[in-house]
Amino acid sequence: MKIVSVVGARPQFIKAASVSKALRKAGHREILLHTGQHYDYGMSQVFFEELAISEPDTNLGVGSGPHGWQTGQMLMRIEEALVKERPDWVLVYGDTNSTLAGALAAVKLHIPLAHVEAGLRSFNREMPEEYNRVLTDHCSDLLFCPTHTAVENLTKEGITNGVNLVGDTMYDAVLQFAEIARKHSTILQNLGLQSKGYLLATLHRPYNTDVPENLRSILAAFLEIKEPIVFSVHPRTRQKIDEFGLYNPQSKTRNLQLIDPVGYLDMLMLEQNARLILTDSGGMQKEAYFFGVPCITLRPETEWVETVEAGWNVVVGSDHSAIINKTETMQPPFQSKRTIFGDGNASELIVQALENKVPARRTRKSM
Ligand code: UD1
Ligand code: UDP
Repeated sequence: MKIVSVVGARPQFIKAASVSKALRKAGHREILLHTGQHYDYGMSQVFFEELAISEPDTNLGVGSGPHGWQTGQMLMRIEEALVKERPDWVLVYGDTNSTLAGALAAVKLHIPLAHVEAGLRSFNREMPEEYNRVLTDHCSDLLFCPTHTAVENLTKEGITNGVNLVGDTMYDAVLQFAEIARKHSTILQNLGLQSKGYLLATLHRPYNTDVPENLRSILAAFLEIKEPIVFSVHPRTRQKIDEFGLYNPQSKTRNLQLIDPVGYLDMLMLEQNARLILTDSGGMQKEAYFFGVPCITLRPETEWVETVEAGWNVVVGSDHSAIINKTETMQPPFQSKRTIFGDGNASELIVQALENKVPARRTRKSM
């Protein structure tokens, strides 16, 4: 089989890493198409190096811009690449603009489409990702769900054909790289941190970063919390902190360390050793669960409802007092952790399903 995998943003490199390896191991030809949505070394290249992902065959170099422009540029350039490659499948990941552009380009050329991390819903249509997910799911031939809830969400929308519960490819990646991170990462020493003696934070959702009062509220809470906090700052967030003048790096803050985005191995090390994680990231809510680290989600809702039901995650939004209160009071649950995200073999199951499904639209001659 010839497969074009479309990636472009940080979490997609991590989601695609183990699938890419499994495809190549099974003897399939994978063409890796990077849209260029993320482009800083620390947001892109470092993941290819650390997760030993093959270099992208093509980088479309789209870069940053408003949603319509960015998605449109991707759509045009992905279409050109697909016309040239004529793959058996297009594989898209998650819920970014790169995902939607890859999906639209594929289906308009009648190329079978498979969606990894299908069925996730926040039921919040103000998030750009929610449209990306819904639209991608509704035009996919194969839908790879990480959780039972994702399968149920699709069923409620009338999507049952091609749905496969495979588990989460980010879990595959953690199983593969957590030990390597423990051996090679020196981030704890570099930042002067003790295991379980600090909190870890990330933030990048537009309604937290682009709304000044929300960003101010979250940063004020971070500054008031008494424990040390390491805050890995996404480029979007860095820009907004500077624009709104919310943090003076010269000011003496006892507890808060702002750092540039780190590579995957350093992040796995920081996560495993944190006492608690504060984040609005989808991937980090899951990784907190994988490592048995309590998580406070800085969003009004989550797609990863199982982590909340299991007691490892609590959704607080951007309210300053709620963040401080939960940070002080949240305890890990007593019961042992359930397997929510599969058995760590999602990537192999995805490859098998691609091999077993004869794509109906492949016979069309309209390309
Ligand atoms: C995107 C995804 C989001 C995902 C996140 C993962 C969409 C709509 N959003 O959000 O779902 O959770 O990636 O991190 O697809 N920038 C840089 N350097 C980079 C990349 C971005 O400086 O390498 C800056 C640019 O100013 C850019 C801003 O960050 O305008 C936002 O980047 P963008 O890719 O548009 O959205 P994210 O917030 O990263
Ligand atoms: N991550 C990383 N370095 C960082 C911040 C995050 O390697 O400085 C990893 C994190 O471990 C997870 C993924 O990036 O695997 C999550 O990506 P992000 O939060 O950007 O996007 P989301 O998951 O919310 O779509």
